[in-house]
Amino acid sequence: MSESMQGLKRTHMCSEVREHLIGSRVTVMGWVNKRRNLGQLIFIALRDRSGIVQGVVNEEKTSKEVFEKAESVRGEYVVAFSGTVCARTAENVNPDMETGKIEIEIDEFRILSESEVPPFQVADTGVKDDLRLKYRYIDLRKSELQKNIMMRHKIAQSFRGFLNEEGFLEIETPMLTKSTPEGARDYLVPSRIYPGNFYALPQSPQLFKQLLMVSGFDKYYQIVKCFRDEDLRADRQPEFTQVDIEMSFVDIDDVLERNERLLKKIFKDVLDIDLPVPLQRMTYNEAMERYGSDKPDLRFGMELKDISELIQGTEFGVFNSALEAGGSVRGIKAEGLANYPRKKIDALIEYVKTYKAKGLAWISILEDGTYKTTLSKFFSDDRLKEIADAFDAKANDLILICADKNEIVFDALGNLRCEIARREDLIDPNEYKLLWVTEFPLLEWDEEANRFFAKHHPFTSPMEEDYELLDKDPAKVRAKAYDIVANGYELGGGSLRIYQNNIQKKMFEILGFTDEDAEERFGFLLEAFKYGAPPHGGIAYGLDRVAMIMAKTPSIREVMAFPKVKDASCPLTDAPNIVDDVQLKELGISIDKFVKRHEEKES
Ligand code: AMO
Ligand code: AMP
Repeated sequence: MSESMQGLKRTHMCSEVREHLIGSRVTVMGWVNKRRNLGQLIFIALRDRSGIVQGVVNEEKTSKEVFEKAESVRGEYVVAFSGTVCARTAENVNPDMETGKIEIEIDEFRILSESEVPPFQVADTGVKDDLRLKYRYIDLRKSELQKNIMMRHKIAQSFRGFLNEEGFLEIETPMLTKSTPEGARDYLVPSRIYPGNFYALPQSPQLFKQLLMVSGFDKYYQIVKCFRDEDLRADRQPEFTQVDIEMSFVDIDDVLERNERLLKKIFKDVLDIDLPVPLQRMTYNEAMERYGSDKPDLRFGMELKDISELIQGTEFGVFNSALEAGGSVRGIKAEGLANYPRKKIDALIEYVKTYKAKGLAWISILEDGTYKTTLSKFFSDDRLKEIADAFDAKANDLILICADKNEIVFDALGNLRCEIARREDLIDPNEYKLLWVTEFPLLEWDEEANRFFAKHHPFTSPMEEDYELLDKDPAKVRAKAYDIVANGYELGGGSLRIYQNNIQKKMFEILGFTDEDAEERFGFLLEAFKYGAPPHGGIAYGLDRVAMIMAKTPSIREVMAFPKVKDASCPLTDAPNIVDDVQLKELGISIDKFVKRHEEKES
């Protein structure tokens, strides 16, 4: 039976009902979190997005009708009740509840909507992800998720507040557009009017925001959905939200300084944390050398050390061949872990293998100063001491060493230091360490394609100091590009853009685009640049990532209302799905291979 709300008006959100209201009459509405029957007394914990408040029905004090209704409700029924706020007796005070000092003595009760037994209890932990997402609207009733989504709102408002205040204009850009060069696969949308032609959903509004600068809008922002068909990870979704920003007549310092003030405001508004600015700046090269990563987690040490020179000329084949192949030998020191059990070391070795390292050598410095090591066959004690000294290692420390191509050594050790920090609980979860990583390489060599790719995108400006290297040694050219990094995550990235035709031409040349390729892909931008392009640059934050960091959750899904699962499907709506033949015909599309998702069979 569903009753109407007529004649009843909500006066308070559940968590607003506190001691100051004792003696007043209130009306609250929400979901039954729990009902407890104690004979004459029925307690109903009512939940809305603000929290929980307890109502009590006393058989002796209330009407039979109210008592019977209260008796009949179950979890997740939607109810409204009115009554007088009373102090709980001392033994009934619940210090764990915001509203734990009071309860509402119910005198009017309505069942607004019934609920079937839900597929899982809102409070259940350990519910499988697919089930949680199929019934996301129930899952979203969890207080942690409600808090995350509300925090996300606050973050978005804080971004907007700052940017509005500083004279930025919020301008929308198209969703049905042409492929943008962000490097992932596009999601395509077929055109009905021109069968065989496709729009692409934007991977970012990059080209449009640059056009807006050519149009003279000067300071732009947009909180905008972006689409990238790439493999999902814990911090990646196929559709995600950027806070996209662009400015004219700025240099790098202008962009970074303004963004530091922006971040300072957001941390203050959302977490009441005073972020110390200016933030640390670290070049890409330094980040790689010291942390093996371009998004280093600075909440703990364990920096990488290059010992290539030190071990040169030793007998150890693994090290020698790495050096001969142009690689390096580097390591990290894990303080106090000299007696790390063999099994755990083996687990670390397996871990680095997932980053393509072939192995790890290790040296334990024992209490008495002697060494236990995989290298004893090849290294004298003197040599071991030299290595230990290079790491500034003391008794009880463990040194872990990797030899390989630089890329692999950085990736393996960079991740290994984070893994050890997690395993050994070296990270303070309440700490925030933000930094700018600057001077990224402009280009990245792709072995397979046998050509350079732009590391950021083809419109990122090289550093003036490196212009002459564009011809001589393009791999060494640094870009006017920067990332904002927090606790080991890339929160955002941006750059100053190329606005001069000759530099843009050179860039396309290096990327191996012919004039026709460039014209075909970005002709409209190049054309626009002929008509007065101001110097400009900007940044885009991943709003989901910012929310993730602030909500301290390791999964991006916990800060998105309706995320997708690993295979990029949506358990709630069951997208993607097979569409009607009529629809396909209209689009001029015939399918020569399709996979039925649920049977996972091809036909
Ligand atoms: P970039 O590609 O670095 O730059 O993206 C900017 C930020 O967007 C977030 N992000 C993602 N978040 C969740 N899931 C994803 N799949 C995903 N991909 C990216 C990250 C990232 O730092 N147009 C440029 C910006 C510019 O130059 O101004 C761009 O899109 O937090
Ligand atoms: P092996 O000669 O393969 O028995 O290896 C001798 C030791 O060197 C073992 O402890 C290996 O784990 C370690 N090792 C193997 N490959 C590497 C590598 N690429 N870098 C560092 N240590 C390695």
